Amino acid sequence: MVYADIGLVERALQNLIENAIKYTEPKGKVTLSLIKMGKQIEINITDTGNGIPVSDQPFIFDRYKQVDSTTKKQGLGLGLAIVKKIMDLHDTTIVVLSKPYEGSSFIFKLPAYQLQ
Ligand SMILES: Nc1ncnc2c1ncn2[C@@H]1O[C@H](COP(=O)(O)OP(=O)(O)O)[C@@H](O)[C@H]1O
Ligand SMILES: [Mg+2]
Repeated sequence: MVYADIGLVERALQNLIENAIKYTEPKGKVTLSLIKMGKQIEINITDTGNGIPVSDQPFIFDRYKQVDSTTKKQGLGLGLAIVKKIMDLHDTTIVVLSKPYEGSSFIFKLPAYQLQ
């Protein structure tokens, strides 16, 4: 359990999982993992898809940004801008680790719920 807005975090996860599936070939793999790290929970969405060139990575969270080389897929390029906004509202950040043709990971942390 974490301290967070359930609706907003659900929206962020939906966008990230949708991307992972959309940008991964049918026989690829999408993994969602949660790891407790001290007082925080690290959430990791990893795929084995086409990846994102390093030069494009700083811009994928901008509105309407879609990476050309990922062969334009359906969408408006708004999903990650919404995810970024949701992270800001939770005072947290999201990190992308990706290599073309190897896949992508999107990682963020939320404060773990502490039982008194
Ligand atoms: N898991 C991923 N694998 C590869 N590329 C991705 C992934 N997630 C996002 N991208 C790239 O970042 C761009 C922005 O993502 P997003 O804002 O969700 O827009 P879209 O509407 O295209 O899904 C995508 O168009 C794609 O180029
Ligand atoms: Mg999207």
